[in-house]
Amino acid sequence: MIFKEYLPRSLFGRSLLILVGPLVLLQLVVAAVFVERHIEAVTRQIAGSTARELNYAIDAVEQAANAADGQRRLDALAGPLGMTLTLSEGDSVPSETLRRFYDIAGGAVEQTLKSDLRRPLALEGDLSDRELTARILTDKGVLTARIDRRRLSVSNAHQLFVITLAAAMALLVVAVIFLRNQIRPIRALAAAADAFGKGRAVPFQPAGAEEVRRAGAAFLSMRASIERQIESRTRMLSGVSHDLRTPLTRMKLALAMLEADGADTQDMEADIRAMERMIDEFLAFARQEAGEEPEAVDPRSVAEQAVAAARRSGGAPELRDERAGAATDLVTMRAGAVARALGNLLDNALSFGTAVSLTLRASSRHLEFEVEDDGPGIPAARREEALKPFARLDVSRNQDRGAGVGLGLSIAAEVARAHGGALILGESARLGGLSARLRLPR
Ligand SMILES: Nc1ncnc2c1ncn2[C@@H]1O[C@H](COP(=O)(O)OP(=O)(O)OP(=O)(O)O)[C@@H](O)[C@H]1O
Ligand SMILES: [Mg+2]
Repeated sequence: MIFKEYLPRSLFGRSLLILVGPLVLLQLVVAAVFVERHIEAVTRQIAGSTARELNYAIDAVEQAANAADGQRRLDALAGPLGMTLTLSEGDSVPSETLRRFYDIAGGAVEQTLKSDLRRPLALEGDLSDRELTARILTDKGVLTARIDRRRLSVSNAHQLFVITLAAAMALLVVAVIFLRNQIRPIRALAAAADAFGKGRAVPFQPAGAEEVRRAGAAFLSMRASIERQIESRTRMLSGVSHDLRTPLTRMKLALAMLEADGADTQDMEADIRAMERMIDEFLAFARQEAGEEPEAVDPRSVAEQAVAAARRSGGAPELRDERAGAATDLVTMRAGAVARALGNLLDNALSFGTAVSLTLRASSRHLEFEVEDDGPGIPAARREEALKPFARLDVSRNQDRGAGVGLGLSIAAEVARAHGGALILGESARLGGLSARLRLPR
């Protein structure tokens, strides 16, 4: 539909249109019918009777012997007819009629007079004046009649428009006030749902019309049940992880006590260490998830925190800030979790490449941290797999690295998701290796 482009997008605009559209249409129809039919018909009647009186005066003039006699007869008529009648020399009347555009009934008056008098005629003034001047050509000169406008037409026909328009405006103001109040709770619900999607729980109270209130209550209970679910699952996983430590420690001890000191024991020790790391990593993540509230922070300080941590463990990532002037405001996020996710990405980049950079970018809707390296990258077909927990691609390819457990990328992706954002893997255009973009909504 072509119309769609011109229709208002907001509920407020649409409701207003639904309300005002019919109102205006109704007014137009009423005004058209009323003016066309009623006012015109009445005007023709009134003007017709005045025309008969003028005809009477014209007859008197034309039956007179001369102009002076004509004027005398007119003077006798002027009183009873209630007009000012004067006869003056002349053999033509101006053909242009002075009339204003909003003078609805003027046309009908002019037509009626012209067709009833059947003489050259000019009207001067319009129906908003108190009097109209009609100049009529007779055989004894020009008869000038000053006629009260109430004898020609319904008075002030255009006032109908003014009154209806004023009434419509008053209605519109009331409608705008009421509509705003109705739409405010819907906006509040949208804002609360949006914030929840970005991992923030803003206070929200259902309000407004029955249906809106119900939607608000449904949202609240949905939010509560999601929060409960996440919490109970995290608590359960933490419990399991925590309890796994004891048997692992026991196994480590048992291994140490074993006499045998072969390759098998070393492998088992490495496996146990990997399991311990896995558990530690998960527990640290779960604790942070549970304990940290989102707050407004400067993204740069978060990036600096992650870079500093990477430097401490021996890397030298470069920090690049590509945000434009206005986009440097604070952004609400769980700073600790984001720094941790960035730390994981930097860790990966440093173990696969030598040149590593962390770039900060911002648009009006997103904030983006991009970690790039000059390593081998991840082929497009395997990127999805790499994001899965415990996924380690092609272990033989990177034997020189310490054994990872495959949680780094999935934790970073989880942090992004919890903020309503995403972790996007790609190929770095600048360095040639992997590009991991942690994108958060702002
Ligand atoms: N910058 C990178 N370049 C090339 N491959 C990568 C890069 N980052 C990750 N990968 C691949 O994706 C896999 C998953 O990475 P992830 O960070 O999840 O686990 P990990 O590094 O092996 O272990 P962890 O980070 O838990 O110690 C890695 O095993 C590796 O094969
Ligand atoms: Mg990793």
